[in-house]
Amino acid sequence: MKIKKLKNIINKIFVSHGVTKKHASICSEAIINAELVGAPSHGLSRLKMYCDRIKSKLINPKPKIKIKKISQSIAHIDANNSIGFVAADLAIKTAIKNTKKTGIGLVGVKNSGHYGLSGYYAEQAVKHNLIAFCFTNAPPAIAPHGSKKSLFGTNPICFATPTSSKVPFILDTSVSVINRGKIRVAARTGKKIPQGVALDKFGKPTTDAKKALSGVQLPIAGFKGSGLAWMVDILSGVLTGGNHSGKVRDPFDDFSGPQNIGHLFLVMKPNLFVGNYSQRIKENIKRIKKLPKLKGVKKIYYPGENKYSRYISNLKKNILIPKNILEDLEKLNANK
Ligand SMILES: NC(=O)c1ccc[n+]([C@@H]2O[C@H](COP(=O)([O-])OP(=O)(O)OC[C@H]3O[C@@H](n4cnc5c(N)ncnc54)[C@H](O)[C@@H]3O)[C@@H](O)[C@H]2O)c1
Repeated sequence: MKIKKLKNIINKIFVSHGVTKKHASICSEAIINAELVGAPSHGLSRLKMYCDRIKSKLINPKPKIKIKKISQSIAHIDANNSIGFVAADLAIKTAIKNTKKTGIGLVGVKNSGHYGLSGYYAEQAVKHNLIAFCFTNAPPAIAPHGSKKSLFGTNPICFATPTSSKVPFILDTSVSVINRGKIRVAARTGKKIPQGVALDKFGKPTTDAKKALSGVQLPIAGFKGSGLAWMVDILSGVLTGGNHSGKVRDPFDDFSGPQNIGHLFLVMKPNLFVGNYSQRIKENIKRIKKLPKLKGVKKIYYPGENKYSRYISNLKKNILIPKNILEDLEKLNANK
């Protein structure tokens, strides 16, 4: 489907669910971006879930979002159960505005929901020639090191910086070995998952996707990844007033209350300590890219390069929508 047509349909669906035109546009931009960068598990495949949660009054389509100014640099947002895209959009824009005034911007968000891809918000800061960190917690998927019960989300860690080229450096990674979307797809298609990514509910390693979904996902790098997931839970949840320690509800399966997810955005000017950051980052990347390569490796990429080239090439194409998701989209569009 053509990007513009799809954007119109998503806008109309959100508006028919009571979302304002402005907020609907923020949501549709984020969803389309996920499709374009090649992360469909955070795109259209979630549209029905957002609508179901609005209908169940678990996402507030017309939130009264409060921004509390703590200092020139720091703000605290109570998102009033808004859809995560809207809260995160406001938060990163506030952090960018404060950074331009003071050199640094820190924004904590509580009472939010799933906001999609962290890199999408970090990239907004990079477009203003700023550095950004973005954190969000997520529903239980990963077992803390030593436990057989999941508690941490796949809690992505995102760091982005301008590179002095048009392609930003965006390290945006979940802390599970593979993302949950891939396990859901394998479960649906009856495929096995790789060794070493999940345990069943008894704590035994499994390659059976269904057993993995009812069991736990493993963090990257053992106790180190578990520690990183914990750090994100503290920064996003404990610090901001959001849910934490396993209390964030799964948006697909748990309709017993709002998610109350927390996010944290930290933005800074790149020239806080040195006047020639753009030259230094250019030199840094150039040196790394010149290193001798392993057999079979043509090029050393920096984080974000792959997504950027996918985005540019997908901009010229139609968005391919799997049959089951197209059916959902048509139903939502017909019922609007
Ligand atoms: N909102 C949420 O609750 C939530 C939870 C988990 C993940 N996410 C999002 O899901 C997305 C996907 O996460 P993921 O862990 O599957 O990411 P991924 O494995 O696709 O990529 C992780 C990072 O590695 C980089 N990378 C990939 N190949 C590379 C290469 N060859 N050389 C150098 N760098 C390379 C990517 O650019 C990226 O920065 C992220 O955008 C994340 O924010 C969101």
